[in-house]
Amino acid sequence: MLTRIFTWETSLANRYVFYTLCAAIMFFTPIELIAKKYEYDPLGPPRKLTKEQSRVAEANYEKYCTLCHGEDRQGHVNDHAPSLRSKSLFESGIPHAVLRPLSYGREGTPMGGYLDEVGGPLTLEETWNLTYWLFEKSGASRVKLSTKPVVGNIKNGEQIYQKECSACHGKNGEGVTGPALGNQSALAHNTDEVIRYAIRHGRQDTPMPAFENKLTSQQIDDVTAFLRSRASGWKMTKPVLRKIPTPDEYVVNPDGEHPEFDLSDGMYVYAKDLNAALEAKKKMVLLDTRVPSVWQTAHIQGSVPLPYYADLDETVKDLPKDIQIVAYCSCPRAAADHIVRQLRNRGFDNTAVLYEGIFGWMHQGYPVTRREIQE
Ligand code: HEC
Ligand code: HEC
Repeated sequence: MLTRIFTWETSLANRYVFYTLCAAIMFFTPIELIAKKYEYDPLGPPRKLTKEQSRVAEANYEKYCTLCHGEDRQGHVNDHAPSLRSKSLFESGIPHAVLRPLSYGREGTPMGGYLDEVGGPLTLEETWNLTYWLFEKSGASRVKLSTKPVVGNIKNGEQIYQKECSACHGKNGEGVTGPALGNQSALAHNTDEVIRYAIRHGRQDTPMPAFENKLTSQQIDDVTAFLRSRASGWKMTKPVLRKIPTPDEYVVNPDGEHPEFDLSDGMYVYAKDLNAALEAKKKMVLLDTRVPSVWQTAHIQGSVPLPYYADLDETVKDLPKDIQIVAYCSCPRAAADHIVRQLRNRGFDNTAVLYEGIFGWMHQGYPVTRREIQE
């Protein structure tokens, strides 16, 4: 009896010591299972738009952005264009993740630059107003982010990237359903902290998860450092803008014969057939339906910018009805489809869309004319 009480009491005491030890170990242990919450200082709202500025910004959004980012700024309408209303983007992203891509575009993706300086349709003031309009519509409050580099282990970061991120962002950061994280313009525009904020908080109402509940702070820093390590120091260079062709220059090979395309679905011409027709000096009009800043960067030789938002009532008078017109974009087809449908409604039956888009054209090794850079 006595021994039984004795063992029972010691085992209780042992258990007590054991639990206390466990609690102490858990308390002092440096290993965390999910990321520590960070405190961010708030940053006041930017200047408020006047009613008139708001109205113009909204009209600009509808004209230039809905094609890919959607009527309600929800994103993922064409080309997996990101949401332009997620809270975390507007908390952290002005000017990095919003104004800069809007102004200069992201080279090599369907996101072109809309600032006049690079050949786009908007003034500096209009790009700022559109950014602030998007911010006001998002209802988010800004946070103050540090501009210091995020330090982490690049090797670990790469492993985490391949395991957790590559399915959506691509093995080489080239972008799949998520944006191209290895894109040099994006890396040049975004600070480390802006990138880390996106990883921690995700993008609300999009497939981008918040990783602060899945990875540790160290792991998030490692993957941020890995992404930064992919930047090659890309710098924005001031482009020399090409002259936009005038109507008398619209027809490529004006003395050539008409091409005879066998259009797929009554609409599409394949890159190999278009290239063969151009090599055979066939007579055509090529329309580049992207924002003209990307026509400035690279285009199929002889093409004329007729952006997806052009007012066709104004421009169609310069287009011939009896010559084959081929339109292309990078979407790979959404913008060109949009223009060709409107042209057909106006009786332009000799129209077609380049099936693979200009990126498909380039991937197949067909030639483009590139812009000159002013050093
Ligand atoms: C032809 C389709 C297209 C059009 C039109 C377009 N965008 Fe984009 N936009 C994209 C794509 C695709 C991306 C992502 C590119 C990448 O992979 O980084 C993007 C990225 C962005 C980003 C970066 C957001 C983020 O979370 O990374 C902003 C901001 C943006 N676009 C604003 C605009 C605005 C404003 C307009 C209208 C003036 C516009 N875009 C027109 C396709 C488009
Ligand atoms: C299930 C798919 C998915 C996974 C997994 C995923 N992402 Fe994303 N990510 C997205 C999408 C989609 C977006 C664009 C969201 C939007 O519409 O704004 C995005 C946006 C981002 C952005 C913002 C980009 C910008 O231009 O503003 C960053 C940074 C990012 N992801 C990093 C990561 C990292 C790092 C990982 C892995 C730890 C990861 N993502 C995992 C789908 C994913």
